[in-house]
Amino acid sequence: MPPAPSSFKAALQRLLLHPRAPAGVALLCALPGLYLVYGAFTESLGVNPAETLIRQSGDLTIRALCYVLLVTPLKDLLRMPAIIRHRRTLGLAVLAYASLHLLCYAWLDMGLELEDITADVFKRPFIFVGMAGFVGLIALGATSFNAAIKALGPKRWRRLHQTVYALAGLAVLHFYWMRAGKHRFDDVIFYGAVLALLLLYRVVKVLRERLSSP
Ligand code: HEM
Repeated sequence: MPPAPSSFKAALQRLLLHPRAPAGVALLCALPGLYLVYGAFTESLGVNPAETLIRQSGDLTIRALCYVLLVTPLKDLLRMPAIIRHRRTLGLAVLAYASLHLLCYAWLDMGLELEDITADVFKRPFIFVGMAGFVGLIALGATSFNAAIKALGPKRWRRLHQTVYALAGLAVLHFYWMRAGKHRFDDVIFYGAVLALLLLYRVVKVLRERLSSP
């Protein structure tokens, strides 16, 4: 007989709280990136491996961003606070994939020429917006540790980390601008809609908390 939903939930909760769960989540997050890098080394990324690497690492970044913003809604809907324990790992995965994406662009598109990269940032608006998003992600990654929460204070830390929604907006704008020349917006609309729904959930939650507090 299949386990009752409540015992499945209890088993999932135990799994999420397992001492090795953070390492497991980190490994799961790393797998698609490792697969991409494996593809590069085995020359199985198609006719234009540089383009595939840049685009797929960009896709992995925006997907990781969706997963990290899904943590709070999932915690609320499943009533499973243990999920929150893995938010930092997911957040760091976003930064790691954005760094891989930037590295692929800087190396494969620009030959690691700092002057050319700087010129490109100010020449192409979609690169400027991507870079602004990356700088924001660095600020969030650098303050994602307990010492930073202590130093900033929980209120200021929370306010800083809420800017992740603005960074999601920059990510969608970057994606939209990049695709505008190609007139292909299907994926942009998909990720834009997912991120807009996640933002809407957050706004409704904050409003409800404010209205219910005396
Ligand atoms: C918040 C950080 C970022 C996110 C979420 C992001 C996301 C994306 C996505 C989803 C794509 C399109 C992939 C596809 O077509 O399937 C893309 C493409 C691209 N991104 Fe980013 N990106 C970010 C930051 C950056 C940065 C910092 C740079 C470089 C300075 C950059 C340069 C590029 C380039 C060159 C392309 C491909 C353009 C082309 O093939 O024509 N991105 N990015």
